[in-house]
Amino acid sequence: MHVDSWALKAKKLGLRSRAVFKLEEILKKTNALQGSEIILDIGSAPGGWSELVKNLSSSSKVFAIDLLDMAPIEGVNFFKDDVSNIDNIKEISCLKSQFDLVISDLAPNLTGISTIDEENIFELNILTLLTARKYLKPDSGHFIIKTFQNGMLKKLKTEMEKRFKIVQTYKPAASKSKSSEIYLYGESPL
Ligand SMILES: C[S@@+](CC[C@H](N)C(=O)[O-])C[C@H]1O[C@@H](n2cnc3c(N)ncnc32)[C@H](O)[C@@H]1O
Repeated sequence: MHVDSWALKAKKLGLRSRAVFKLEEILKKTNALQGSEIILDIGSAPGGWSELVKNLSSSSKVFAIDLLDMAPIEGVNFFKDDVSNIDNIKEISCLKSQFDLVISDLAPNLTGISTIDEENIFELNILTLLTARKYLKPDSGHFIIKTFQNGMLKKLKTEMEKRFKIVQTYKPAASKSKSSEIYLYGESPL
């Protein structure tokens, strides 16, 4: 399907973002949602991913965090905050090592200067990775993170491999081929 058709399809279906199709494909391929009872969505606004996981797994508890506001989704506990402050949100921090699935579509503001942007993306990715590792169930948790194909990707993958038994890379069909975005998947935290 042409990429703009994904945007049209999202609009027709009343979805909050086109990014929903990307997560849907990765969830299907990895089976990461199966049996997931507690889910954390990092960088959740406007809410496409949170809405998808809640719809596909209605009995699960979903927690979401974003710097920006997000219109409410029934059954999703949203916190307007920076992910770096997550340990101070008591409703989430009391659930360390208890999450089955952590998903992150975080994207920092870009400066247009590639070396600075690459460094900022890497730092945010590492913060997210460490957060996921802290909150996921050891052995059985799943982690999906959006990142970008750049000079730091290999380094990020190495950091993932230190913390997960299985690490895979996905480029979903709904992701524009000219876009450098790419998704890493980690299974079974070490
Ligand atoms: C691409 S959007 C997420 C789209 C979402 N997955 C969806 O389907 O609707 C990326 C989000 O990351 C958020 N973000 C960026 N830096 C953040 C940070 N440090 N803490 C929390 N959220 C952040 C942005 O505010 C933005 O809403």
